[in-house]
Amino acid sequence: MSNSKRSVSLSLIGAAACLVALGAIAQTAGITFRNTITGEVLNFDDALPEGKDTAGVKEFMTSGKNPYNEDASCLKLGEQLFLSACSGCHGHLAEGKIGPGLNDAYWTYPQNETDEGLFSTIYGGGQASMGPQYQNLTLDEMLKVMAWIRHLFKEAPEKASWLTDAQRKSFKPYAGHETLPDSPPGKCQEKAK
Ligand code: HEC
Repeated sequence: MSNSKRSVSLSLIGAAACLVALGAIAQTAGITFRNTITGEVLNFDDALPEGKDTAGVKEFMTSGKNPYNEDASCLKLGEQLFLSACSGCHGHLAEGKIGPGLNDAYWTYPQNETDEGLFSTIYGGGQASMGPQYQNLTLDEMLKVMAWIRHLFKEAPEKASWLTDAQRKSFKPYAGHETLPDSPPGKCQEKAK
């Protein structure tokens, strides 16, 4: 092979390696989120452009833990989103309807017990009428909906493995009849980007 040909093919290899590397960082640091049904890596390029870079989303993408759980400023927004996007199939209190209950410790897909798994199911969808939600909700809204679903949990706090130890101590199984303040301080008071 002549020298010039060799350098062309070397730079092609270099370009290919770069593309592979780019593919690998399409999802940010650490966690690889996968479709609950197919196991394919989720592509966040498909997400709605708004609400992609909030502090909450950034934190979640590296930690896999929903920073909005039990944050009062996120719960009311999460409730509104849940009532418009999810309750028609999952019931007003996530007790189950066409879709399964989301307020107890039983999961069709056990990974939904983790925030990482729950997020992946919401983003990428499940079977039948559980379609992917990435065109319905922004990434930030998904975290808010998730916080509300976790808040609706009706079983013993010890089973709420997604909570921090401190949160678990004060968590009460959802019993309804609570009035959430309109704009309590917290992470969701920050303006969404
Ligand atoms: C059109 C009806 C419909 C809507 C709207 C809908 N779902 Fe579902 N959902 C379903 C069905 C049906 C299933 C069962 C699918 C399966 O088992 O794969 C399901 C399954 C799920 C699961 C898996 C539960 C488990 O036990 O593992 C989660 C989590 C979930 N939905 C969350 C949501 C959230 C959050 C929303 C709103 C953003 C939503 N769904 C909107 C119908 C719906």
